Amino acid sequence: MKLSATGLTKSYTGHTVLDIANASFGGHGVEGLIGPNGAGKSTLLGCLTRRIEATTGDVCVDDEDVSQSLMSMQSFEVARLGVIKTNQRIQNFDSLTIRDSLRMAATPPERQDWRSVWRAPPVDEELETEIDALLSRFPFSDPKGYANSGGEKKLLDILRCIIVKPKLLLMDEPTAGLPDEITQDVMKLVQEKVDAGDMTVVIIEHDLDLIWSNCSYVHFLSEGAILFEGTPDAVKKNRVVAEKYMGV
Ligand SMILES: Nc1ncnc2c1ncn2[C@@H]1O[C@H](COP(=O)(O)OP(=O)(O)OP(=O)(O)O)[C@@H](O)[C@H]1O
Ligand SMILES: [Mg+2]
Repeated sequence: MKLSATGLTKSYTGHTVLDIANASFGGHGVEGLIGPNGAGKSTLLGCLTRRIEATTGDVCVDDEDVSQSLMSMQSFEVARLGVIKTNQRIQNFDSLTIRDSLRMAATPPERQDWRSVWRAPPVDEELETEIDALLSRFPFSDPKGYANSGGEKKLLDILRCIIVKPKLLLMDEPTAGLPDEITQDVMKLVQEKVDAGDMTVVIIEHDLDLIWSNCSYVHFLSEGAILFEGTPDAVKKNRVVAEKYMGV
């Protein structure tokens, strides 16, 4: 699944923070989205998922042979198409245990039945097995309880997105606050799903080693515009990227 942006802009009180002439995201397995602080990376993912209302422009989703504009949709409808975004800021799931939080993320709305107020919903064995597999891979300090640290909350946010089985997963600085070995494990899981053809990924990261070692295509955003895109090697060698971002 791929998203194409055309003439996509976002302004706040007349100041334009995003201005994408023409670009597409999600067509290359794992893609990187890099750029300085304040470049507009999170705003771009927000506009692509309709969590942020763009000022002008269009975003289309292309899935197999069908292309449709997202601009009249709400963000939950975009999510139902399979475009799912992790959050840059830590999310709190304080009222749900880790397992319930994963169960709730994975339960489609038609199964969230009002009758379950009186009657326990049927146990979804397949989902429970999937949750067991995730929890054995990512050890939480209290797996039967709640996500405790900032790192655990960040990890739970990522796992909640993955268990939904997205077609396009947008990750906003997933590794910030995660220990290195957990980051490696998250990227391994993501890569497995991409290799299996289950999803494509766009990942915002300031950790460039992670970008170079995991991405097959990279977009460079600066002052709201995509100034360069290409393979990691081409991006590394690009003079504009070096001048504006890598402090050369
Ligand atoms: N709600 C808002 N109101 C006004 N300005 C905003 C708002 N949200 C973002 N901005 C501005 O838009 C610009 C782009 O912000 P954005 O968060 O998209 O950058 P970013 O590339 O994700 O940065 P970082 O790497 O620090 O996360 C910044 O100058 C920011 O101050
Ligand atoms: Mg950001």
